[in-house]
Amino acid sequence: MKKICLVLVTLLIASSFVFASGQQGGSGGGSALVGIAMPETHVLRWQKDGASLKAAAESRGYRAEVAYGDADQTQQNRQIQGFLTQGAKLLVVGNVNDGVNSVIADAARDKVAVIAYDRLIMGSADYDYYITFDNFKVGQFQGQGIEQGLNLASATAASPKYITLFAGSPTDNNSKFFFDGAMSVLNPYIDKGVLKVVGPYPKTSADNANFQRIATENWQAPIAKTRMENLLSNDARDVVLDAVLAPNDTLARAIIEACLADAKYAGGKLPVVTGQDAEFDSALSIKNGQQYMTVFKDTAKLAEAAIILADQILKGQTPNVPGASLASGSLTSIGDTGRKVVKAYLLEPVIITRNNISVPVNAGFYTDAEAAQLK
Ligand code: BGC
Repeated sequence: MKKICLVLVTLLIASSFVFASGQQGGSGGGSALVGIAMPETHVLRWQKDGASLKAAAESRGYRAEVAYGDADQTQQNRQIQGFLTQGAKLLVVGNVNDGVNSVIADAARDKVAVIAYDRLIMGSADYDYYITFDNFKVGQFQGQGIEQGLNLASATAASPKYITLFAGSPTDNNSKFFFDGAMSVLNPYIDKGVLKVVGPYPKTSADNANFQRIATENWQAPIAKTRMENLLSNDARDVVLDAVLAPNDTLARAIIEACLADAKYAGGKLPVVTGQDAEFDSALSIKNGQQYMTVFKDTAKLAEAAIILADQILKGQTPNVPGASLASGSLTSIGDTGRKVVKAYLLEPVIITRNNISVPVNAGFYTDAEAAQLK
């Protein structure tokens, strides 16, 4: 009898263990909730990021919920509060602006880990991890696109090239990296007088007054379009622009639209316009010879890497994220929030021009129907 009881008890314990681990999911991720807060949907990548993050979390046995903040920090804070109320164990946050800090502090108080996703959460000491692309390099690629597209190496001061400058949202810390990376390539040509800036010229983002004048609040395309229209009818009225530094694809296309409505560019040559994100519409525009370049950031890989990091944090393991390198040496400052240096994991971006659109296509970045149009 004793033996039978023992066997029964053993079976019971074993089956409850199986039940528990079954609930936790095959990889033992636990049915813990991962809250995914994305900043906006008007820049397409975030819709894809949200979906990829959710799928990656669920494939590791987590529950996952995504919320999009509509470029409104108050709204995103409510969404993050909602995740905390539901008992989320980890948050993946692509924030709108620094107004997120109060809810990041709430998360720390509840012992909920936070991964800053793509955008560093500035001014906070309440989290430990950041995962992104090398954003200075993204900007360098934009500068190199212009250098190559205008053949700046052979330009002369007697016949200079003309450029106008745009930056991303002033509340997005990435905007400074993109801009400073681009200007690190362009400033030497400007100094030599072979490249002339039309409109405001912040030499770096540290020139805050001028940086604000070229920045685009919340990365809104209509703002960039209006600013370009104003430039074309004022500062750039008497010159033909050879290039426009545009910080991403959404803004690049708005700028191109403004140019196409101007008689000087309508039928003829558009300026060399840069971008980033390898959005399908921009890839097509590049293929058709309108936008000059973009930067491919494989956000599916970023999402996968972020969830691998999340899984390791939740399991109390020392993070080791394949495909991402932990910023060290001079790059450590990429994780400097102003109050703390968080661990920054970096993925590599790729420069894309007409010659290598096949790179994002072959990486499976587009739908089959889209890919077919890019071949
Ligand atoms: C991202 C870009 C994106 C931009 C606008 C930046 O923080 O790094 O990929 O184009 O936000 O959403």
